[in-house]
Amino acid sequence: MIQSASNFHVAIIMDGNGRWATQRGLARSEGHRAGAEAIRRVVRAAPLLGVRILTLYAFSGSNWGRPASEVMELMRLFECFFRAERAEWHAQGVSARAVGRRDRLPTRLLKAIEEAEEATRGGDRLRLRFAIDYSGQDVIVEAARRLQEVRVPDREAFSRLLAEAAHSSLEDATVDLLVRTGGEHRLSDFLLWELAYTELYFTSCLWPDFAVKDLEAALADFRSRERRYGRVPEHIAV
Ligand code: FPP
Repeated sequence: MIQSASNFHVAIIMDGNGRWATQRGLARSEGHRAGAEAIRRVVRAAPLLGVRILTLYAFSGSNWGRPASEVMELMRLFECFFRAERAEWHAQGVSARAVGRRDRLPTRLLKAIEEAEEATRGGDRLRLRFAIDYSGQDVIVEAARRLQEVRVPDREAFSRLLAEAAHSSLEDATVDLLVRTGGEHRLSDFLLWELAYTELYFTSCLWPDFAVKDLEAALADFRSRERRYGRVPEHIAV
C-alpha cells in the first residue's frame, strides 16, 4: 500500500498489444481485446494498492495514422468497453472520464463516454481517466492559445488551462508514477507537462500480459525511489 496520498496518481502507456497478438498468430484486434482484459484487472486492483488516480493512454493523436480498419476496431472496442464497464465502475466507486480531444471521436463513442462519465460521477475510490485522441504537445499548444486570457500567468494558471484544453481537471495534474509496458523507453507525446517530476518505470511485459503482480512490482519500485524535486535530501519536507 502507498502510505500517503489521497491523490496518488499512476499513468500507464499500455504498449504491446500488437506484438502480443502477432506472437500468437492472431489479428492485432485480438491483442487490443486482450488489452481490455488487462485494464479490467488493473482497475479492480488499483484502489486496493493505494492508487487514487489512474490514467491510461488508450489512443494518441498520432494513432489516427494507423490503418483505418484498426482505428475503427479500436473505436468500437472503446465504445463497447465504456458501455460494458460503467455499472461495475459505479458499483466499485470508480469515476471514469476521457481526457483529450472529443471533436474527432465517433458520435457513438462520445455518447458512450458521456454516459459512463455521468453514471460514475462522484465515485471516489478511483478516478479512472482514459486518454483518447490525446496529444501532450497539442494540449500545450491549445493552453498557450488560451493564455492571453490570463492576467498573471504562472504555473498553476497554465496547468489550469492545460486541464481545460484536455477536458481534465487541475486536481489530476500531477502524476507520481508513469509505467510503460512493451519494452520501449519513450513518452510518445503523453502528459508532457504533467510528467515533470514523475518517476518513470519501464517493463518489457506486453500490455495484455500485465497482471496485478506487475503493478505491485512497479509500485514497489516507486517506493524505493527518493523523490528530491531538484533539492538535496536534507531539505526535502517529509
Ligand atoms: C499499443 O499497442 C496500444 C494501443 C495503441 C491502444 C491501447 C488500447 C488498448 C489497451 C485496448 C483496450 C483499451 C480500452 C480503452 C478498452 P500497439 O498496438 O502499439 O502494440 P505494438 O507496439 O506491439 O504494435
